[in-house]
Amino acid sequence: MDALKALHERVSAPRLSAPPPSGDVLANIQKAAFRAADHGRMRPWRFLVLEGEGLNALGELFVRAEETKNGALSDKERERALARPLRAPMVVVAIASPKSNQKVPEIEQVISTGAAVQNMITAAYAQNVGAIWRTGDYAYDKVVMAGLGLQEAEKIVGFLYLGTMDFMPPPAPEAAVSEYFQSWP
Ligand SMILES: Cc1cc2nc3c(=O)[nH]c(=O)nc-3n(C[C@H](O)[C@H](O)[C@H](O)COP(=O)(O)O)c2cc1C
Repeated sequence: MDALKALHERVSAPRLSAPPPSGDVLANIQKAAFRAADHGRMRPWRFLVLEGEGLNALGELFVRAEETKNGALSDKERERALARPLRAPMVVVAIASPKSNQKVPEIEQVISTGAAVQNMITAAYAQNVGAIWRTGDYAYDKVVMAGLGLQEAEKIVGFLYLGTMDFMPPPAPEAAVSEYFQSWP
């Protein structure tokens, strides 16, 4: 797909099934992350790729997070937390991994990691792979962060759900783009 078409038309796909992207298609998505604007080319990110048992393990972490916050869960609550990561056959956990640098503050490194995720969802769309960037409370939960092995300075920027689209999402509504751009002064 033409790059501008993907940039102009990308939409998120919330309903995703197997198979997950693989081979060159997955490699293209991963490679796109590395063309995010990145002050100092620090590559201040890392990514965990979860499939199968990995998704079940993430669900268990979500259960532990809920239990730590709210105490014992009902069967229904437990099932709900366990099912969260199963909304796609692959979840990529995007982690900002800021490094100490006098010229590049931490916030810029976190922004770059977000830009890397944006590149990945656009590369997915360009190849007809469904993707949606999610966070929710779990992205900021200490139990989840520790369970995934994050270091003290690291942050989860998103859970990137990837898979085969159950249906093509409708186009995004047109935005009044010009209203967001003003000449200055
Ligand atoms: C940092 C970030 C976190 C998000 N977290 C969620 C989320 O937890 N759940 C959700 O349904 N959408 C979430 N979204 C929004 C979707 O990824 C998506 O952009 C939104 O549904 C609009 O759809 P579109 O991308 O097709 O315009 C998040 C987006 C960003 C940038």
